[in-house]
Amino acid sequence: MAHWVRVAAEGDCPVGQLKGVVADGIPVVLANVDGTVCALRDRCSHDEYPLSDGELDGSHVVCRYHGARFEACSGARKALPAVRPVQAFPVEIRDGQIWVDTG
Ligand code: FES
Repeated sequence: MAHWVRVAAEGDCPVGQLKGVVADGIPVVLANVDGTVCALRDRCSHDEYPLSDGELDGSHVVCRYHGARFEACSGARKALPAVRPVQAFPVEIRDGQIWVDTG
């Protein structure tokens, strides 16, 4: 069942940037990929460090701790040492605000 939570203003996550937020107690990292805002659980599947400490490289979120990569809009794993994906959340922009469905 959908559970939409407002997490930030659209301007808080500019193109090419990551932003860590909390949605109902769940850590979420927003990623603005060429104007499309995506959301992943803000914990690397390798060792649970925050992905929001890393950077966005094209469409990949790069973990700063050991270099794992994930597709920003699906959470698919793209590089070791991570072997599992990261949970992705649906995102909507409503009146300049970013909403995430934590389901
Ligand atoms: S915690 Fe992210 S690569 Fe190790």
